[in-house]
Amino acid sequence: MASAQDIKLPAGALAHQVSLSTSPSAVLHSPLSSFGTSIPRAAAASVSAKQLKPFATEDVKILLLENVNQTGRDVLAGQGYQVEFLKTSLPEDELIEKIRDVHVIGIRSKTKLTARVLKEARNLIVIGCFCIGTNQVDLKYAADHGIAVFNSPFSNSRSVAELVIAEIVVLARQLGDRSNEMHNGTWNKVSNKCWEIRGKTLGIIGYGHIGSQLSVLAEAMGMNVIYYDVVNLMAMGTTRQVATLEDLLGEADFVTCHVPELPETENMIGQKQFEHMKTGSYLINASRGSVVDIPALVQAMRSGKVAGAALDVYPNEPAGNGDYFTNDLNSWAADLRGLKNIILTPHIGGSTEEAQSAIGVEVSQALVKYVNEGTTQGAVNLPEVALRSLTMDQPNCARVIYIHQNIPGVLRKVNEILGDHNVDKQMTDSRDDVAYLMADISDVDTVMLKDLYERLEGLSSRIMTRILY
Ligand SMILES: NC(=O)c1ccc[n+]([C@@H]2O[C@H](COP(=O)([O-])OP(=O)(O)OC[C@H]3O[C@@H](n4cnc5c(N)ncnc54)[C@H](O)[C@@H]3O)[C@@H](O)[C@H]2O)c1
Repeated sequence: MASAQDIKLPAGALAHQVSLSTSPSAVLHSPLSSFGTSIPRAAAASVSAKQLKPFATEDVKILLLENVNQTGRDVLAGQGYQVEFLKTSLPEDELIEKIRDVHVIGIRSKTKLTARVLKEARNLIVIGCFCIGTNQVDLKYAADHGIAVFNSPFSNSRSVAELVIAEIVVLARQLGDRSNEMHNGTWNKVSNKCWEIRGKTLGIIGYGHIGSQLSVLAEAMGMNVIYYDVVNLMAMGTTRQVATLEDLLGEADFVTCHVPELPETENMIGQKQFEHMKTGSYLINASRGSVVDIPALVQAMRSGKVAGAALDVYPNEPAGNGDYFTNDLNSWAADLRGLKNIILTPHIGGSTEEAQSAIGVEVSQALVKYVNEGTTQGAVNLPEVALRSLTMDQPNCARVIYIHQNIPGVLRKVNEILGDHNVDKQMTDSRDDVAYLMADISDVDTVMLKDLYERLEGLSSRIMTRILY
C-alpha cells in the first residue's frame, strides 16, 4: 500500500478554493489511516476499492447544528473528521463566524443558509440538510459556488405509509368520533356505517416511495389496491395500475394522495373529483396541502358524499407549535374542525424516531461519499455524477473533479489539460448554469497533480477544482 502522499501548493493557493486541506502539511492527502476506515456502501461494493480522501481526515471540519441525530454524528465521527455538534441553530452573526472555518455543515429546517451567510463560507464544499425540505438553503447560490446540497427525501416513507394504514381503520370505524365522545363523557356504542377494511378497495394516487410501501401494507390487511400514476410503474403484489384518475375515484372505497407538490397536482382533488368518488368513500391526504381543495372537501363531507377524511398537510402551516390552527391561518379551519369523522394531524406523517435515525444515516453517508469520492448522487442542486471506485491495484491514480460554468468550449480546454495523462474514465453532466466533471487519471505523481490542479484553477470557467487520491 502506498504511503501518504502530499502535494504542497504555493502559499495562498488554497485561499479561494475550498476543496483541499487548509493544513500546511497535508494539502492533497490520502492518509494510510483512511484506507482502513469504512464507508459502508463503498466497502460493500468492492473489497479492493480504494477509498479516496481529499484531506487528512482530521483536517475535515464539520459543524452539525440543530441536534442532528446521533446516527449521523456517528457516521461522520467514524471517518475521523473533526465534528462540532450543537443542539440548536445559531443566530446569523454567530453562524457566519462558525461557517467560515468548516468544510461541511449539517442543518435541519431552522438554520437559514442565505447567500449572505454562504458568502462567508470560504471552505465549505457541502451542506447536509438532515430533513426533507431544502428551502432553508439558497440552492442557486450554493450551486453557483460549487457547494453541493444533500437532503433525505425518502427516509420517512414507511412512517407515512403506516400512518395512512392506521387512518384507514380509524375512519372506517369512526374511532376519532367515538374517542372524542368518551372524552366528553358520552357512551355511544354504534355499528351503523362502521366497516372492516378487508375486501375494500384502496386507491393510491402517486405510486412512489410512500404509495408503493402503503400498497404492500394494505394488501396484507386484505384490501384490494389500485393506483394511478403519471408514470407506468411495476405493481407490487397483486395491485393494479388504472389508466385515469377518474377510473380510480370511481372504484376506490378509500382514496389516498401521495403525489409531489407540482402545478399539475394543485387542487387535483376538487369538486369535480369528489363527484367521481363513490358515495360514502373516504379521502386521505398526507402528501402536500396544495393537493386537496379543502372547501370542496368540506362540501363533499357535509353532503354525505365523503364519509370521512384524514388530513396531515394544509395549504398554510404554522412555523411552530401552538394554538394556530384557526381561520387566521386558513379561512376554512373552523369549518373543517366542525366536521364529523375527520382526522386532523399537524404534518406528522414522517415524524418518527425511526425516520430521524434513517435521515441521520442517509444524509451523513451522502456527505462522506461527496467529501471522499466526489459523488453527487442525490444532490439537490448539482448534476448527479458518479464513477465506479478506483481500486487498490491502481496506486498512482487520482480523481479530478472540476465544477465549472456551463458554457461552450470548457470541455475542450479541460481535456487539453487532462490529455497529457491517461484518463481511465470520465463523466460530466450539467444542471442549469453549472456543470460537474469527474475524471479518473492514472500514472500521475504528486508533481503532475499539482501542475494539473493549477492549470484547471487557471481556467476562467472554474467554480471549484478538487483532486482526490
Ligand atoms: N406527511 C408527511 O409528513 C410527509 C412525509 C414525507 C413525504 N410527504 C409527501 O408525500 C408525497 C409523496 O412522497 P413520495 O416520497 O412517495 O414521493 P415520490 O416522488 O417517491 O412519489 C411520487 C409519485 O407521484 C407520481 N406523480 C407525480 N405527479 C403526478 C400526477 N399529476 N398524478 C399522479 N401521479 C403523479 C410520481 O410519478 C411518483 O411516482 C410528497 O408530496 C411528499 O412531499 C409527506
